[in-house]
Amino acid sequence: MRLVMFGAPGAGKGTQAKRLSEHLGVPHISTGDMLRENIEQRTELGRAARSYMDRGELVPDDIINGMVRVRLEESDCEHGFILDGYPRTIPQAEALDRMLGEMGIELDAVFDLEVPDEEIVRRLSGRRVCRQCGASYHVVFNPPKQPGVCDVCGGQLYQREDDTEEAVLNRIAVYKRKTKPLLEYYTRRGLMRTVDGTGSIDEIFGRLLGLLPGGK
Ligand code: AP5
Ligand code: MG
Ligand code: ZN
Repeated sequence: MRLVMFGAPGAGKGTQAKRLSEHLGVPHISTGDMLRENIEQRTELGRAARSYMDRGELVPDDIINGMVRVRLEESDCEHGFILDGYPRTIPQAEALDRMLGEMGIELDAVFDLEVPDEEIVRRLSGRRVCRQCGASYHVVFNPPKQPGVCDVCGGQLYQREDDTEEAVLNRIAVYKRKTKPLLEYYTRRGLMRTVDGTGSIDEIFGRLLGLLPGGK
C-alpha cells in the first residue's frame, strides 16, 4: 500500500501515519522527522534546512526531493510506504511522479485530514515530541503516561522549535499558499480521499481504515 498523508500543520498526519504504518506493516516516511534527524546529527543537509524550518518556511524542493529519492530506494519500501509531509509543492508532486514512474509503481491514495485553523493552533501549542522515536503527544489531548517521557521508547519529550505561535501562523499561511494547490492535483488523478480530521485519534483512525483502497 502506497499512501500520502496530506493536511495542514498539526492536522494529525504524523499521529495517524504512525498508526497506519503499524497496521499495514509498511514504513512511515516523514520528511519533517528526517530533516529534524539531520539537524540533530549536525549533517550538512540539517545545516541547510534549519533556518527554513525554524521560520516555518519550506525547505527548497531539490534538497527534499533528493532526500526522499534515497529513502524510497531502500528495501523496506518494497511493499509500500506512508509518506507524511511530502509532497508539499507542485514541483515535489511532479518529482514524486517521476520517481515512482522510474520504479514502475503508483500511489494508491492520498488522505487529506481536514482540521479548522483554531484547532490546529490548540494542537500545536500543546504538542510534545519524542527526541528518540519522533512520536507525537499532546499535554492535554494525548498525554504520555509519565510527563516528559515517551510511552513507546522511554525517550525524552521536547517542544519543537517551530511550534512557537509566530512560526505556527507562518506554517499555516505557507500551507495555504504552496501546499493546498496539491488538493486539486491529486483530485484530478482520482487519488484524493478527504477525511474529517476532528474528533478522537481513534475515531479518525477508524475513518482512515474505512477509506483504505481494497478495504485493508
Ligand atoms: P513537518 O514536520 O511535516 O510539520 P507540519 O507539516 O507542520 O506538520 P506537523 O508535524 O506539525 O503536524 P502533523 O500533521 O504531523 O500533526 P501531529 O500528528 O504531530 O514539517 C516541519 C518543517 O519541515 C516544515 O515547516 C518545513 O520547513 C520542513 N519540511 C518538511 N517536509 C517538507 C517538504 N516536503 N518540503 C519542504 N519543507 C519540508 O499532531 C499535532 C498535535 O496534535 C500533537 O500534539 C498530537 O498529539 C495532537 N493530535 C493529533 N491528533 C489529535 C486529535 N484527533 N485530537 C486532539 N489532538 C490531536
Ligand atoms: Mg508531523
Ligand atoms: Zn519515543
